[in-house]
Amino acid sequence: MRNIVLFGPPGAGKGTQSVLLVDHFGFVHLSTGDIFRANIKGGTELGKLAKSFLDSGQLVPDDVTIQILEDTANGHPEAKGFIFDGFPRTKAQAEALDRFLESKGQSITAMLALEVEEEELRQRLSKRAETSGRVDDADPLVIQKRIDVYNAETAPVAEHYKGQNKYQGIAGMGTIEDIFGRLSSALEGGV
Ligand code: AP5
Ligand code: MG
Repeated sequence: MRNIVLFGPPGAGKGTQSVLLVDHFGFVHLSTGDIFRANIKGGTELGKLAKSFLDSGQLVPDDVTIQILEDTANGHPEAKGFIFDGFPRTKAQAEALDRFLESKGQSITAMLALEVEEEELRQRLSKRAETSGRVDDADPLVIQKRIDVYNAETAPVAEHYKGQNKYQGIAGMGTIEDIFGRLSSALEGGV
């Protein structure tokens, strides 16, 4: 069982590559952003709580996010491995994920971190705003806020995995196919 953290800033391609990796390697894809958006759409209590954070590009509080991550993962006892997309985003979340997996006799196999220049992130997200319907894509100031929150609060999470020798940077510029090839090579190369 391999559990992968697919890491990277907003617009790095985490969601896009996760779909391809699920197809190819049979992981269960677990995206906290997708879970929050589904709850907002469904008008649930969680959705009501999360909405203002997502719309403004701020992080949903750790206790809420960790709980929903664990509940969703527990709903997949058949999983042969998870891709965690958009989680963990803080040190507390990384530590909670380690404890959660350890309680099941498992661990994170690797963090694969998509490295993309900031200008490219802004361009991808502004372009997606034309079709995504995502409130947080529609305003360049919110896109910038997400990038700033990533740099301040989330980027340091890489250190957690570097300390465990599990960090691997992946060049995230170029075509979707090229980047998928790099991720696949990392996964086939023993990650
Ligand atoms: P989340 O849903 O995780 O969004 P994000 O991190 O802002 O990232 P995106 O989903 O926008 O980008 P992505 O890396 O998945 O790229 P994608 O493949 O879509 O989080 C949203 C919010 O939820 C957060 O702001 C926060 O409020 C909350 N949240 C979520 N998790 C949380 C947590 N753990 N703790 C607290 N709060 C949390 O690609 C982007 C675009 O680029 C697409 O249009 C795609 O088609 C295009 N694209 C992809 N690859 C390429 C390529 N190679 N070349 C050209 N275009 C490309
Ligand atoms: Mg995404």
